[in-house]
Amino acid sequence: MSWQELYQQKRMTAEQAASHIKSGDRVVVAHATGEPGALIDAMVKNAKAYRNVEIVHMVAMGKGEYCLPEYAENFRHNSLFLGASTRDAIAKGRGDFTPVYFSQIPDLLREELHPNVALLHLSPPDEHGYCSYGVSVDYTKPAAEIADLRIAQINPNMPRTLGDSFIHVSELDCIVEADEPIIELGQAKIGETERAIGEHCASLIQDGDCLQLGIGAIPDAVLLFLKEKKDLGIHSEMFSDGVVELVEAGVITNRRKTLHKGQCVVTFLMGSRRLYDYVNNNPSVAMYPVDYVNNPAVIAKNDNLVSINSCIQVDLMGQVVSDSIGPRQFSGVGGQVDFVRGANLSRGGKSIMAMPSSLVKKDGTRVSKIAVQIDAGAAVTTSRYDVNYIVTEFGVAKLKGKTLRDRAKALIEIAHPDFREELMEEFHRRFGG
Ligand code: COA
Repeated sequence: MSWQELYQQKRMTAEQAASHIKSGDRVVVAHATGEPGALIDAMVKNAKAYRNVEIVHMVAMGKGEYCLPEYAENFRHNSLFLGASTRDAIAKGRGDFTPVYFSQIPDLLREELHPNVALLHLSPPDEHGYCSYGVSVDYTKPAAEIADLRIAQINPNMPRTLGDSFIHVSELDCIVEADEPIIELGQAKIGETERAIGEHCASLIQDGDCLQLGIGAIPDAVLLFLKEKKDLGIHSEMFSDGVVELVEAGVITNRRKTLHKGQCVVTFLMGSRRLYDYVNNNPSVAMYPVDYVNNPAVIAKNDNLVSINSCIQVDLMGQVVSDSIGPRQFSGVGGQVDFVRGANLSRGGKSIMAMPSSLVKKDGTRVSKIAVQIDAGAAVTTSRYDVNYIVTEFGVAKLKGKTLRDRAKALIEIAHPDFREELMEEFHRRFGG
């Protein structure tokens, strides 16, 4: 049978596809901007037909309706990284968080979770019958290979990304055609603080370096200060529109990369339609599953790998909290530790943790993000054994290779001035002098 005939045979409505999900199933949803909206809507609409369907998802960027209290008996969310639409459900006990490094999610699915269903979001098939995973290859492709049943939303708006990013129509079980916009990420607001942080980070980046950048205002601000650099490369779990601008400006060429020369390597994408059009059929962007892209040993094959991530709190020893606020789970580790370790192993590599020095809380009080101790109940994300550079708007503290005494001193120098005195008092208590 031709792939075209197979395609027609498997075609159905979203409602019909949702009826293939059974009570007690574990359902893995395509990640982040790759979330298949029409399939999730149909599943939520069919909620009363299910009991205890477990929804496994990393960053959820859609409506997250399966987390609403009225569906508590129908769905339970197992989150691998909390987002705006899922945080409340976990805080209130209608869902759970599983700690896992992004690079190890395929192993988690294969060895522990054994999902029954994968909900996919794919480009239409090419002339050979291959659909692309588009903006989300990461754990989504491995999930499709592991799950018993593959339900795919085929969307003409999904870019055809290249690399290890394809599934053949013959591998799919249910095909639902649904045309909807791919989720876009709004522009982050870059203020004076972020600009100063961006400038300090950029001072650590040399011509020819290979970059990993996270999401948000700080990575976007770093990119603003890279316009004069030459021959930068990208090996990152994700990138956004700012990278496209630097490619077009001739700053990112990937020419000096020691792995995948000439290509930006990435596992998922988050940005505007401009980014999705740029990556469509573009051989200079190679997408691979996350157990390859985020594997620290693979990251380390890139010489001069500079990773830039953000965090919530750093204590005077250099312990970094990035995914909890006190005992409250806020996000997840994502690829932070994968890239910190990969950068540590890379010849000439550097890992940077960049954050504003302080935070003004909703009640108007200012707190220092450089703290004497991490908040009670918070979890260390990047340990003091892995940490290297910490950057705030007040400068750069290099911690790697430094004693606890010298680390504390370096951190106090980049703390917000309002808190330096009390941090120094603790310094004297701890280290004398
Ligand atoms: N004490 C109390 N609350 C704090 C805090 C502190 N020291 N630092 C930050 N917060 C709160 C903020 O008030 C904000 O709360 P709100 O959502 O209620 O407004 C929240 O934490 C997020 O802080 P924000 O400054 O808006 O940070 P962000 O959106 O840039 O995210 C991280 C920062 C650290 C949470 C985010 O980068 C993350 O989850 N990192 C871990 C994963 C990772 O690094 N992945 C790899 C790159 S993709």
